[in-house]
Amino acid sequence: MKEFEGKVALITGGGNGIGLATARLFAERGARVAIADVNREAGEQAAELLRQSGAEVMFVYGDVSDKAVVEQMVAETVAKLGGLDYAANNAGITHPKDAEWDDDAFQRTLDINLSGVMHCLKAELRHMLAAGKGSIVNTASIGGLIASVVPSLPAYTASKHGVIGLTKVAALRHARDGIRVNAVLPGVTFTNMVKDVMELGEEERKVLENMAPMGRVARPEEIAEAIIWLCSDKASFVTGHSLVVDGGAIAQ
Ligand SMILES: NC(=O)c1ccc[n+]([C@@H]2O[C@H](COP(=O)([O-])OP(=O)(O)OC[C@H]3O[C@@H](n4cnc5c(N)ncnc54)[C@H](O)[C@@H]3O)[C@@H](O)[C@H]2O)c1
Repeated sequence: MKEFEGKVALITGGGNGIGLATARLFAERGARVAIADVNREAGEQAAELLRQSGAEVMFVYGDVSDKAVVEQMVAETVAKLGGLDYAANNAGITHPKDAEWDDDAFQRTLDINLSGVMHCLKAELRHMLAAGKGSIVNTASIGGLIASVVPSLPAYTASKHGVIGLTKVAALRHARDGIRVNAVLPGVTFTNMVKDVMELGEEERKVLENMAPMGRVARPEEIAEAIIWLCSDKASFVTGHSLVVDGGAIAQ
């Protein structure tokens, strides 16, 4: 029997990058998976790709910054897949460096990266509390611990600090309800979020690679493995934790 046979996992921002890698691992290990994304095309393609290997995977539209949409996203997942055991609140954006102190960019980043996690937590916890069990992993960033990772992205840094705080509060609040809430803190990972910078040239690529003592960026699967572990029963005594997966970057 596969590890997640009979379980249901919801992954926001599942159409690309870390979210897609997480959806793939859940599907390969037997879970029924809902891929939520604001980008319908990417989300539907991702779901179709994973279905080809025989997994039960659906796309559900979900702009995490919209509370009503998030309620609908979770309700649809529960209705169509029969429950909700695991949630990876992973959707996130960065803002352009030239929008460093721009009010609109700040608000939009907070709306998606922080309020988005809040909306998801509320809707997911309601279902998990009724079931008396569940495990949630929020994707923060090492930029949620230290500001020097992306000093030109104040909104991003603030939002990820906030995600770590929200994770701790939710974990404490529900520690005796059979529900665990943790955060994963990736270092630089090769996804659309950083591809553009890496492809600017050799120098830009080296800067990102050298942020980690290991001298490279992460593959999305390396972050997904940490998310999956935190969700699973193997992490049964882990809650409120921030798991850094960064090739040693913040150990420096
Ligand atoms: N790539 C990195 O170096 C890195 C490092 C640390 C943390 N992270 C975090 O990892 C998470 C995943 O990012 P990624 O690197 O896979 O990026 P990505 O751009 O490849 O994927 C992000 C996905 O989120 C979706 N999304 C964006 N706004 C959304 C919204 N409002 N509602 C729902 N979905 C939305 C996008 O459509 C996309 O499919 C993010 O929270 C990001 O901040 C990434």
